[in-house]
Amino acid sequence: MTALAVGIIGLGSYLPSRIVTNDDLAQRLDTSDEWIRTRTGIRERHYAAPEEATSDLALAAARRALDDAGLAATDVDVVIVATTTPDHPVPATAPLVAAALGLRCTAFDVNAACSGFVYGLQVGSALAAGGATVLLIGAETLTRYVDHDDRAIAVLFGDGAGAVVLRADADARIGPFDLGSDGSELEILWMRAGAAREPFDPVRHADASSRMAMRGGDVYRHAVARMTASSQAVLEAAGARIEDVDLVVGHQANRRILEAVAQRLGVPDGRSHLTVDRHGNTSAASIPLALADAREQGRLRSGDRLLLTAFGGGLTWGSCLLTWTGPVPGSDG
Ligand code: COA
Repeated sequence: MTALAVGIIGLGSYLPSRIVTNDDLAQRLDTSDEWIRTRTGIRERHYAAPEEATSDLALAAARRALDDAGLAATDVDVVIVATTTPDHPVPATAPLVAAALGLRCTAFDVNAACSGFVYGLQVGSALAAGGATVLLIGAETLTRYVDHDDRAIAVLFGDGAGAVVLRADADARIGPFDLGSDGSELEILWMRAGAAREPFDPVRHADASSRMAMRGGDVYRHAVARMTASSQAVLEAAGARIEDVDLVVGHQANRRILEAVAQRLGVPDGRSHLTVDRHGNTSAASIPLALADAREQGRLRSGDRLLLTAFGGGLTWGSCLLTWTGPVPGSDG
C-alpha cells in the first residue's frame, strides 16, 4: 500500500495513577532495580486500579484525543481498539468504548499483540481515506495477565492507553506500511490456555499456563531482526533514507531492543523516542503513548516525518512512515 492522504488530527493518552517502581517489585520478587534497568531500561510502570479494565483506559484516552481534535464523539464513524487484553473474551472491547461515548457506530478490535497499533493504523487509515472519521485506540491491561510471581515476566509490563483520530487530509501522509506475521512461532510469546484451544479449567490451569509466557532470548532476537527489516522495507518503498526520518517511535518493549534496532538502521543520535523507562511494555498502547509523550516534550513538529515500528506475539510485526500534521502545543489547532 502506498502512502494515503490521511492525517492524525487528534492525539490523547491515559496512564493509570498507580506507579510501581522496580524497588516496589524487588520487595516481593527476587530481583533488583539494577537488574531490571540494565536488562530492559525500565524504571517504573503504571498499574490499572482494580476497578479499571481495558475499555476504561481506552475511553479516557479516546476522550482526550477527541478534545485534542476539537471533535464531538458524534463526529466519529468508526471505533477501533487495538488490544490483546480485552475486557471479555466476547464481545470485543471497541463496542463498549463506542457505547460509553454514546455511539452505535462500526466498532471492532484488532488483536496483533504488541504490533496492534500499527496494524490498526493501516486498517483505520484505509477507512479514513474512504471518508470515515476513525478513532483508533491502543489500550492494554497486561498486568492482569502476567504471573506476578514470575520475575522474568512481571517486571516487563505496564498498563495504559493511547488514542488517535484519523481523517482524510490532502496535505497529510500515512504509509507506506509493511506488516507481517509468522504464526508458526506462537509459543515464543503467548498465553497457552484460557480460550478455544484450551478453555480455562480451574484445576488444570492452577499453574501459570493461563498467564503470559515468553522465551525472552528468542523474543529479543526476533524483535530486533523483524523491526529492522520491516523499517527498511518501508523506507525502501518510500524511496527514503533513515536520515530523512525526524523521529523513530518504536514499540516500547525494551530499551536494548530499541537501541539495537536504531543502531542497525543507522538512526542518527537523539532521533528515537523512549518511554519504556517510565511505562514498561504496554503492548498495543506503547506507540500512541510514546507519540503523546513525544509531543508533550516538544519533539513533534508539524511536517516531521515519523517512522513507527513494532513487534509482538503472533508473531507479528509492522512498520510505517507518517508525516505529522496533528496539533502541536502552541498551534492554533
Ligand atoms: N530479576 C533478576 N533476575 C532475573 C529476572 C529478574 N527480573 N528475570 C530473569 N532473571 C534471571 C534468569 O532467571 C536467569 O537466571 P539464571 O541464569 O540463574 O537462570 C538470568 O536472569 C538470565 O536470564 P535471561 O533470560 O538469559 O536474561 P536476558 O539477559 O535474556 O534478559 C529479558 C531477559 C527478558 C530482559 C530479555 O530476554 C528480553 O528483553 N527479551 C525480550 C522481552 C520482550 O521485550 N518481550 C516483549 C516483546 S513484545
